[in-house]
Amino acid sequence: MLLVGLGAVSTTFIAGVHALRKKIAAPTGSLTQMGTIRLGKRTEGRSPLIRDFVPLAELDDLVFGGWDIFEEDCYEAARTAGVLDPALLEKIRPELQSIQPWTAVFDQQYVKRLSGSNVKRGASKRELADQVIDDIRRFKADNGLERLVLIWCGSTEVFMEESPVHQSLAAFEAGLDRSDPAIPSSMIYAYAAIREGIPYANAAPNLSADVPALTALAVQTGAPLAGKDLKTGQTLIKTIVAPGLKARLLGVSGWYSTNILGNRDGEVLDDPESFKTKEESKKSVLDYILQPDLYPTLYDDLHHVVRINYYPPRGDNKEGWDNIDLVGWLGYPMQLKINFLCRDSVLAAPIVLDLVLLLDLAQRAGMSGIQEWLSFYFKSPIHAPDIYPEHDLFIQLMKLKNTLRYLRGEELITHLGLEYYD
Ligand SMILES: NC(=O)c1ccc[n+]([C@@H]2O[C@H](COP(=O)([O-])OP(=O)(O)OC[C@H]3O[C@@H](n4cnc5c(N)ncnc54)[C@H](O)[C@@H]3O)[C@@H](O)[C@H]2O)c1
Repeated sequence: MLLVGLGAVSTTFIAGVHALRKKIAAPTGSLTQMGTIRLGKRTEGRSPLIRDFVPLAELDDLVFGGWDIFEEDCYEAARTAGVLDPALLEKIRPELQSIQPWTAVFDQQYVKRLSGSNVKRGASKRELADQVIDDIRRFKADNGLERLVLIWCGSTEVFMEESPVHQSLAAFEAGLDRSDPAIPSSMIYAYAAIREGIPYANAAPNLSADVPALTALAVQTGAPLAGKDLKTGQTLIKTIVAPGLKARLLGVSGWYSTNILGNRDGEVLDDPESFKTKEESKKSVLDYILQPDLYPTLYDDLHHVVRINYYPPRGDNKEGWDNIDLVGWLGYPMQLKINFLCRDSVLAAPIVLDLVLLLDLAQRAGMSGIQEWLSFYFKSPIHAPDIYPEHDLFIQLMKLKNTLRYLRGEELITHLGLEYYD
């Protein structure tokens, strides 16, 4: 298990896996550890645990390694992140201390609010990619590993759009040789992983592997891909509530979302260029769920605002407010207020675990390239260029479970249900 960035999300995930191994905590929030899957008809009473239904890697078999621009080991990084109780971290201290971050590929041009000294040097971006590949191979050999998964849990990079260098592998590799500025650090890691045929997921909203050159390379090397931007706090709630409002054809004239957040992620997002990447990711969900093109009278005039304010006293304990202006029968206005006092990385860690196990499963099942069935976990799910992404959490869950049924040769569940009344 390779992680780029040993920050709040990564350390909460790694510490959590060690706590689970020692049986001193429960895997709450993890579909692969706690979720069940119904098989066959409702009358059959077959609902095994997902982890008994599909062959997932065992938690005891996971080995962790990663990169960061700071030299702190995973224990110190977890203490800095301040998410988990020090008493819990004490119980798994030796395991965490053994994870020392390797030097990172980093350029402040892409994350303005960060600087650190644990950084690789190289004559070109190609050379940096080769150094990452060396790190990966060394880690694999030293630990006698069969398979790997790499997840970008690094900071949100500045907003970038696709450019010619991203369009084909040849253009991308030529770009690496001349250190093209359109190739940020996250793309260098993604390229290295995919080149090695390693499943890759992006927990952040930056482009990273979501460009034609890298999605095509993934198909070639047999690497499954997932991303972007873990769907955790406010956007999770948004994709739970919005499908319900649309299902009842309630209009939405405004959705104002604001957050206060005091961790390092919040500090990075305080830079307008990184925030723009996050904003695009957070804002797109409503357009797709509410489908204003199909329901113009209900959703055409929707004012959707998303704000994140860096507010250090709260640390990782984010507070989100949503004000939703609704329109009902005969145009009567209503309001819905949601105040979510969440813990960002506590919501993210079980998702990282699921992604590791499901991406590894996907690869063993011969799946490569974009894995749309993992959209369930993301704010900006990557998807084929000619279709729109699916954002509705409940459709995403159905898609995920049907994919697992499909992989095991079980009947897909359509929820038609007429057969019970024949
Ligand atoms: N619920 C959540 O916490 C959540 C949800 C969705 C997305 N995300 C995204 O996940 C990412 C991680 O979040 P976090 O809260 O752990 O942030 P964090 O700031 O605590 O950790 C990020 C780490 O990445 C390191 N880093 C940055 N660039 C790097 C590079 N090029 N190479 C190696 N390391 C690098 C930083 O030094 C830092 O330690 C962020 O981009 C965040 O926006 C988090």
